[in-house]
Amino acid sequence: MTDEDGVREDRLDALLTAVLGQIGGADPRLRELTTSLVRHLHAFVRETRPTEDEWLTGIDFLVRTGHTCTDRRNEFILLSDMLGLTSAVDEVNHAGPAEATPSSVEGPFHAPAPRRENGAWIAEGPERRRGQAMVVRGRVTDTGGTPIEGASVDIWQADDAGHYDSQDPAQPPGNLRGLFTTGADGAYWFRSVVPSSYPVPTDGPVGGLLRALGRHPMRPAHIHYRVEAPGHRPVTTHVFVAGDEYLDSDAAFAVKEELIVTPVMRREGESYGLDGPFADFVFDVRLVPLEVAL
Ligand code: BEZ
Ligand code: FE
Repeated sequence: MTDEDGVREDRLDALLTAVLGQIGGADPRLRELTTSLVRHLHAFVRETRPTEDEWLTGIDFLVRTGHTCTDRRNEFILLSDMLGLTSAVDEVNHAGPAEATPSSVEGPFHAPAPRRENGAWIAEGPERRRGQAMVVRGRVTDTGGTPIEGASVDIWQADDAGHYDSQDPAQPPGNLRGLFTTGADGAYWFRSVVPSSYPVPTDGPVGGLLRALGRHPMRPAHIHYRVEAPGHRPVTTHVFVAGDEYLDSDAAFAVKEELIVTPVMRREGESYGLDGPFADFVFDVRLVPLEVAL
């Protein structure tokens, strides 16, 4: 049973059967995951017929990816992000009603945020002078529209140059982060600057892969949210700034239509304690009650 290249398909079949036949052990889920992974990898080899050099190049890429990982950097997660796999895992784990705010990937920049009062400025570094002032406001409700008092809204964002506090010594720790609690009407609000798009790290093997594939490393401008309330399913997501040039080609494939917000430019900021024009950015979060989620 050879194919047109003389490759013995019966041997490939027997090889796969032999490998699958050795998968055992006490954990049924591990067996299921490994069986499927082995099937897909063997199918990949049959479909693409890698040369031995290509196979070793692939293994070398994975070795270099591992060596690039440190306590502060996980190049494997970046690889998963850049192949859309993190977003796929997010999608299969967060199915929900259409009325709920969709989730999106957490990314590597979350850190514990300072607790802040509603209305606080979260921009305390040089970006506060430089950047476009922005008011971010909205309400947290359940999927039926009932306001949720006491929800926690954890926010993190990059500055107007695309840097998080952890990447930029000019920003004080905790800059552009905040943990807010909603009031009786479910409302939260804070003042900040409009974030910028930014590149994912490109100095490692994953950056090399992006270049080799002719891909750019940019993420469209966004604000990260993690919203939790007792009795409701929490959501980790981000909200994107409409008009960003990378919305259609996010390097991490994390954009969802419902998460794009168009900021409205307003001239008069006095009612928000601002002395000039500002971008008014409104985003409501709808959480799924646990009895619906189960
Ligand atoms: C982020 O938004 O912070 C992010 C997500 C995925 C990969 C890199 C960065
Ligand atoms: Fe981000």
